[in-house]
Amino acid sequence: MQKTSDLIWQDTQHQELFRLIDQIREDNVDIGVFRKLHNYAEFHFALEEAYMEQMEYPGREAHVAAHNKFRKELATMLEEHHEYDEELRHSLSLFLSEWLKRHVLGIDKKLESFILDSEVK
Ligand SMILES: [Fe+2]
Ligand SMILES: [Fe+2]
Repeated sequence: MQKTSDLIWQDTQHQELFRLIDQIREDNVDIGVFRKLHNYAEFHFALEEAYMEQMEYPGREAHVAAHNKFRKELATMLEEHHEYDEELRHSLSLFLSEWLKRHVLGIDKKLESFILDSEVK
């Protein structure tokens, strides 16, 4: 994934999310990687949301709604943690990375500009 952000913490965390999503596709993965992804996504979303709240970011509501949708997808994957065969893991990984790419290049990019234009960073 090419560098998409000058906001270091956000960029680093996105890279870690993409790394975890790629791991889902590796051989012999278990539910642990889904749990890690779930926890890390929560950590990342909560931080972006804390910034948005603190800065009274205008696009906050839609952004939080997008995070919530992803949270729900991940929670569902965790709940249904019976037998993740290779094919399923590949399609989940693809789905998650496509979602994240769209989110990072779209809604997150706007938040990034807003934060970079502000004094907070
Ligand atoms: Fe976001
Ligand atoms: Fe993000």
